[in-house]
Parts: sequence; structure tokens; C-alpha cells
Amino acid sequence: MSQITPQPGIMEIALYQSGAAHVDGATDVVKLSSNENPFGPSPKVADALRIAGVDLHRYPGTDHAGLRRAIADVHGLEAENIICGVGSDEVLQFIAQSFAGPGDEVIYTEHGFSMYPILAHAVGATPVKVEETDRTVDVDKILAACTDKTRIVFIANPANPTGTMLPMEDCKRLAEGLPDKALLVLDGAYAEFVDGYDGGAGMVESRDNVIMTRTFSKIYGLGGLRVGWGYAPKEIIDVLNRVRQPFNLNNLQLLAAEAALRDRAYLDKCRSENARLRSWLIEALAGHGVECDVSYTNFILARFNDTQEANAADAYLKSQGLIVRKVTGYGLPNALRITIGDEPSCRRVAHAIGQFKEGAV
Ligand SMILES: Cc1ncc(COP(=O)(O)O)c(C=O)c1O
Repeated sequence: MSQITPQPGIMEIALYQSGAAHVDGATDVVKLSSNENPFGPSPKVADALRIAGVDLHRYPGTDHAGLRRAIADVHGLEAENIICGVGSDEVLQFIAQSFAGPGDEVIYTEHGFSMYPILAHAVGATPVKVEETDRTVDVDKILAACTDKTRIVFIANPANPTGTMLPMEDCKRLAEGLPDKALLVLDGAYAEFVDGYDGGAGMVESRDNVIMTRTFSKIYGLGGLRVGWGYAPKEIIDVLNRVRQPFNLNNLQLLAAEAALRDRAYLDKCRSENARLRSWLIEALAGHGVECDVSYTNFILARFNDTQEANAADAYLKSQGLIVRKVTGYGLPNALRITIGDEPSCRRVAHAIGQFKEGAV
């Protein structure tokens, strides 16, 4: 047998499942499986890409100074406490790589984002799954699960795929109660959908054990470009920068993300359209006997009576060209996660679920 073996933990990784994008034989397909912005990015992004495209023979800067300055300006943060990555996934990876390893524990929650256990395994650490309460992160249960081996606690706030959110007071209590060697990662991939929410930036500034991550993939409509960032105390940023490749982001990513970020009017429009259509869809589904929790994100978690009904609803939606996300792998076999699309897509989903529930199919 070959003596060439992967590092501990690697073979424990269950490959990340991305949202489906095609339905065989169907036309007029709507993809509502990856929490993408149905309106796409700000029109200003196209201009930025044209400008960036002129200089493709040049290496990008290594310090992302322009993008970090823009993030700092827009959010009122310190540029030197920001790190940028290839999606927020890469920033999460820097964190795992820098602060956990064999013998350490990484906490995530029952319905938490599936990258967290993957990242723990990838660095040889032990992922520890903690129960939630009513599909919401439970601070007391996390604190009870902490040991002297805990190095990282990952929570998304608001959370994916549940769409629920912890009040800032609970996040503070969590950070306060963690063992001295543990870091709290507040993953703010959906933070922009919550009006007035800082994603935990204030907590980062007032504590030394909190990191916030953010992305351009969701409200900014740039999932295909892959840009994210993190905000942390300077000592932590200094550590993360040591594992970051110098040219991890290219000129197109840097300029396009900055253009998207500075178009605040477009962001506001996307946020309010999302909120309007989300309320509409939740109500429409309730009218068909399908319950959802209050969602703080750009998706809803529609709960069916049982696994069989959820699977049948998923199959019917697919037959109608509507691709949503099954979340069995997240411990939610009776639910489907549905991204808030544009108005015609929301109407199509509501109509199809109505037909399905009335047994007209
Ligand atoms: C909670 C959460 N965190 C992080 C990510 C990663 O986003 P990206 O790597 O595109 O920035 C996602 C994407 O779906 C997510 O839902």
C-alpha cells in the first residue's frame, strides 16, 4: 500500500454541496438555491471591471489598501484591522489554519453553515456540534460545550440555513463566557440584510477575542467574483496575514468589490426589495399552510409536515423549473431553503407551493 497519506482529518471531510443550477429538460429555470442577489451587482461594477481589465499584465497590490480603505470609510472601521480574502470562505480558512490544529476543538451549531466542520477537519482539529433551540443558536449550550481544548466558536449571525438571528446581547454574553484561549467568529455573510446591524464590528472593537467576517457574495451580488473580508483586533490580523497568499485577490476582484461597496443607493434598494418580497413570500406560504421562522436574511426556511412532504415539494418545484435547496444535510429534513428572488420568481414559488399543497399535482 502507498505510504503517501493525507494529513489527519482530511479524509473526514464531506465535500461541500453547492446549490443546484440546472434542471434536466426544463427551460425558464429560476435558481433559488444559493442565496444570490436576483438583481445582480451594482451597474457600477461593469465599469470597474472594464478599467481593471486594461492592466491584467500587472500583479495586484499585496495589501488590498484601496479596498480596505473603502471598507473602512463606508463602515466607519479601522483599515488596519481588515483582511480581505477570496470570499469570506477564505478568511474563515485563515482563521481555522491559524488558530486550530490537531487536539483542538472547533465549535459550530446544529444547523450551522457546513463549511465550519469542513474547516475544522481540514486543519486536523475536532469539530464539536452543539444543539440549537428552535433553530436558533443557543449561547448556554455553546458555553456548556466549551472545554480547555476549545479554540474557535463559529456562528453565523444571521444564520444560514435557518435565517434566525441572535440579539447582540447574547453574542456579547457568548464572547464574555468563552474560555481564554477561544475565539468567537461572527460570520456576517447576511449582515447587510439587517438594517442598522453592524455585524458585530462594535464587539470586535471592544474585545480581544472576536472576529467578524463579511462577504460580497450576497447582497452585493458578486458571488461569482469571490471577495470577502474580516475585521479583528490588529494582533489577530497580523497572524492571519501570515497565512494569506500575497496575491490572493486580483485587480478585477479588488476594483469591482470597491465599486459595489461604494454604491450605497443600490445596496439600500436591494435590502428593501428583499425585505418586501420576503414578507410577501412568508405570508403567501403561510396562506398555503407552510410555516417559516422570521428571517433576517435573503432566504426563508419553509417547513413542511415531514421529510416525505418536503422531498415531494422539492420535486414538484423542480418540475416547474424552480430550484430551491434541500437542507437534510443541515439536520432539517422537513424543510426547504428558498432564496428570495425577484418578484416574478417569488410569485412562481408561492403559486407552485400552493398547487402542491392543494394536491393539484
Ligand atoms: C453563513 C455563510 N458564511 C459564509 C459563506 C461564504 O460566502 P463567500 O465565501 O461566498 O463569501 C456563506 C455562503 O453561502 C454563508 O452562507
